[in-house]
Amino acid sequence: MGLFGSDMTTPTTILRLAIRNDAADLQSYFGSLSKAARYNRFLGHAATPTLDDINRIIGCDGDNFFCVVATQRYGLAQQIIGEAVCSIAPSAEIALSVDDSVQGCGLGRALLMSLESLAAQRAACELHGTILSSNDRIAVLARSLGYTLERPEGDWTHRVIRKALPVSAVIPFRSSPAMAASPWPYLKGALRAAAGRA
Ligand SMILES: CC(C)(COP(=O)(O)OP(=O)(O)OC[C@H]1O[C@@H](n2cnc3c(N)ncnc32)[C@H](O)[C@@H]1OP(=O)(O)O)[C@@H](O)C(=O)NCCC(=O)NCCS
Repeated sequence: MGLFGSDMTTPTTILRLAIRNDAADLQSYFGSLSKAARYNRFLGHAATPTLDDINRIIGCDGDNFFCVVATQRYGLAQQIIGEAVCSIAPSAEIALSVDDSVQGCGLGRALLMSLESLAAQRAACELHGTILSSNDRIAVLARSLGYTLERPEGDWTHRVIRKALPVSAVIPFRSSPAMAASPWPYLKGALRAAAGRA
């Protein structure tokens, strides 16, 4: 599956905030992840989340708890190929995954950077996430983006990745040439405003 392209035959990859209508597609996405990827994402053996679980993952309003999805569009159809979530309160915690078939193409980096940008817009000062200590891939990626790697005391199975965000800075939404920033507004309140217009 190609990530790149702007002609009619090659799908375009878009990062945007998830909305309630994405729940079924997100559920299929989680169901299609390899066991290993799901294990790393949910820090253990996990069944495919139910639609109720998915709605919690998507969050209510896109503000204090939000989910970014990476989608590929084929005409009117879309396929989710990655997701990243952030819970701002009480402290900003993150988790993410990328479809096995497109890992290593830069999507994980783009998702993590978009979380940083959105969390900073929502006044978060720091991001952290718990990973399995065997998960070299996310450890390397996080380190390359300036995260520190901590070992919680007495816990040899997990690591915590952590990064301070610049105070009150608006980090621009950055995307690789493969990604088009979504036309959706990203600021706090954006989803509520969009729901009000619908
Ligand atoms: C971790 C994950 C999200 C990374 O997504 P990705 O799209 O593959 O990541 P990218 O393509 O952006 O790669 C980013 C970096 O990872 C590192 N990387 C890639 N493949 C790697 C490998 N096999 N081993 C170690 N590091 C690797 C590289 O440093 C790469 O940087 P580069 O772009 O400078 O080469 C993805 O592997 C995944 O979904 N894993 C399962 C779920 C998971 O582990 N989630 C994290 C915990 S919540």
